[in-house]
Amino acid sequence: MTPTRPSDAERMDRHYRYQRFIYDLTRTHYLIGRKHLITDLKPNPGETILEIGCGTAWNLIRIAERYPAANIYGVDVSNAMLDTARASIKRKGLARRIHVAQADATAFSAADAIGIPQFDRVVFSYALSMIPGWQEALEIGAAHIAPGGSLHIVDFGQCGRLPGAFKTALFAFLNHYTVTPRPDLEDACRRVAATKGLTLSFSRMHRGYTDYAVLARKI
Ligand SMILES: C[S@@+](CC[C@H](N)C(=O)[O-])C[C@H]1O[C@@H](n2cnc3c(N)ncnc32)[C@H](O)[C@@H]1O
Repeated sequence: MTPTRPSDAERMDRHYRYQRFIYDLTRTHYLIGRKHLITDLKPNPGETILEIGCGTAWNLIRIAERYPAANIYGVDVSNAMLDTARASIKRKGLARRIHVAQADATAFSAADAIGIPQFDRVVFSYALSMIPGWQEALEIGAAHIAPGGSLHIVDFGQCGRLPGAFKTALFAFLNHYTVTPRPDLEDACRRVAATKGLTLSFSRMHRGYTDYAVLARKI
């Protein structure tokens, strides 16, 4: 009998079983650009924000603190990560403002998972580089942008303006954590923008360490 491939949920639960306890402490210094993304969201009061692949809720908590009138949601495939997210959200007294649910980004309907079909801001933060079916996830994320809303992506870039030895060492380190920076992220964003009638702004920040994209839908 052919062994079945473990699902993303099984893989991520196994991967983060122990790491989730030190995740926030250890990732702060190399998941660069998350604060830039949060500053750029600028929701209007009462608007909705969804992070897909929200992990331990590091972003969700900072988004809630920065935008006290926004309604904030997160989904992740890993129940282990969501346990840590819920504990952190509760500790910060934000349980009434941040709602999280289990969902696979590659087969996801927010209407089913959360009861809301579209969001004013949708976020992927260092998640697409960990999702094997990231192109489907990107398409699905874009389908969840409300009219007048935007999808914001921050992730590892190709380190184009950094020394080659740095890139080799970084990518070997990331590979160990099942992270694959996507060389074709910009092309995929362009394709999704064209097929869904969105505008795209794509920047390579920090000498190419960080890719940052915003896909926006007109009203
Ligand atoms: C590197 S962490 C990033 C967490 C958070 N976004 C941050 O910036 O700290 C990647 C997250 O993506 C989640 N993930 C991986 N595959 C997924 C999938 N198919 N659907 C939803 N989430 C997924 C993992 O469980 C993990 O929490």
